[in-house]
Amino acid sequence: MSESPLLIEDQDAVRVITVNRPDKLNALNSATLDALHRAFDDAASADTVRVVVLTGAGPKAFVAGADIAEMADLRPVEGRDFALRGQAMMRRVETLPKPVIAMVNGFALGGGLELAMCCHLRIAADTAKVGQPEVNLGLIPGFGGTQRLLRLAGRAATLELCLTGAPINAERALALGIVNRIAPAAELQAQTMALAEQLANAAPLALRGVLDCINTGGESAIGEGLAFEAAQFGLMFATEDMREGTRAFLERRKPEFKNR
Ligand code: COA
Repeated sequence: MSESPLLIEDQDAVRVITVNRPDKLNALNSATLDALHRAFDDAASADTVRVVVLTGAGPKAFVAGADIAEMADLRPVEGRDFALRGQAMMRRVETLPKPVIAMVNGFALGGGLELAMCCHLRIAADTAKVGQPEVNLGLIPGFGGTQRLLRLAGRAATLELCLTGAPINAERALALGIVNRIAPAAELQAQTMALAEQLANAAPLALRGVLDCINTGGESAIGEGLAFEAAQFGLMFATEDMREGTRAFLERRKPEFKNR
């Protein structure tokens, strides 16, 4: 069997998934897309996992894009299938019932930015560069870039990044709302793990409710989105964690959530 393109490690309730092709700047070939899809299926069903952190191996790149060498000779139907394969994996990440944090430790270009954008939160090193450079290859984004960037940062930023292909630095990505936070490169891991632990200690069913509302309600008309939110809100009253959270507040103590 060939070596896995991923490293997967659990630190208590936080699962860290690392794309491990540093000599290719963690470019996403088919084997890596499939391994990521399986890894996120696994993270979804593992009861011990509350939060996932996704990152890239080596000091230079989160992910420098879809694998250009693999794409160079594709025919149209194969190109479409490659896009669908990447999109399916990224939709799996986006709809995971637990928070996923992208730890953007360097270049997040093309498929790399698309991968970061399907995660729920993004923390970037101050040295990171992000962009959608596909036009420079005579291509366009194919793993959701035109759609998720549009929803995340609006038309002006999406048109600029996708039409020029030019990367932007972490500071600008923060200003455009493409990343949530920036950390000095040397502190990126510690700050990301601190955020992951904070989320791992929160009520899992409440986090899932928020993710469901934003994934489902966020794509609906406001009336449907609000109705969905109200139904999810009601569902929370069926959880022991909601009773614990409200009681702990009233008793002035820290809640202990049990994922029930
Ligand atoms: N697909 C396949 N291989 C890639 C890759 C990608 N998207 N990005 C980088 N690599 C490979 C390079 O071919 C090189 O491999 P080699 O050593 O076998 O020749 C290795 O990773 C290191 O990359 P290199 O270009 O030498 O590093 P650099 O520091 O000079 O430049 C980048 C870094 C990110 C600016 C440059 O690699 C780049 O532009 N990559 C492509 C980005 C892109 O267009 N992504 C969208 C794809 S749709």
